Amino acid sequence: MSFKLPDLPYSHDALAPYMSRETLEYHHDKHHLAYVNNGNNALKGTEWEGKSLEEIVKGSFGKNPAVFNNAGQHYNHLHFWNWMKPNGGGDKLPGALEKAIASDLGSVAKMKEDFAQAGATQFGSGWCWLAVKGGKIVVDKTPNGESPLVKGATPILGCDVWEHSYYIDYRNRRPDYLKAFLDHLVNWDYVAELYAAATK
Ligand code: FE2
Repeated sequence: MSFKLPDLPYSHDALAPYMSRETLEYHHDKHHLAYVNNGNNALKGTEWEGKSLEEIVKGSFGKNPAVFNNAGQHYNHLHFWNWMKPNGGGDKLPGALEKAIASDLGSVAKMKEDFAQAGATQFGSGWCWLAVKGGKIVVDKTPNGESPLVKGATPILGCDVWEHSYYIDYRNRRPDYLKAFLDHLVNWDYVAELYAAATK
């Protein structure tokens, strides 16, 4: 299976002012495209050619950095575009997800605080996450193109804290970007869908 850049599930203007057209033009049209192209080149002739994306990400971790970095980032970005929507974010979560968060992480407010803290303290490029591990929701952070997938967990929400995701709109204010992501962008319905699939 070769990698392909999907269209954004909304227009490039749809997430403004929290994520601008210019950011999405660079981030989706150029950065994600580069992961797709470089990943397809790196895959050629390897044992992972023809495997599913998740198999490639898990299988190449620690074995083939060129394949892993690009496949990992392709996987992360495919979800990232769907983890956001216009007029998203906020504290109104689908019931089953809200209940699970309250039970596993204390409350929605505490989850948001811990998620933002994980993103703010990820040194250098990387991601912060909600993931399901052993049936429970956990907060995590990873460097570069890694994700909870390589730790035996299932990602249900991730925020890209590479500078290419926020520098045009927020400059060095990563915490402000994380707050805007949680308050105005997260597609909680998609998170709930992934949570249900990970726990069924
Ligand atoms: Fe990115």
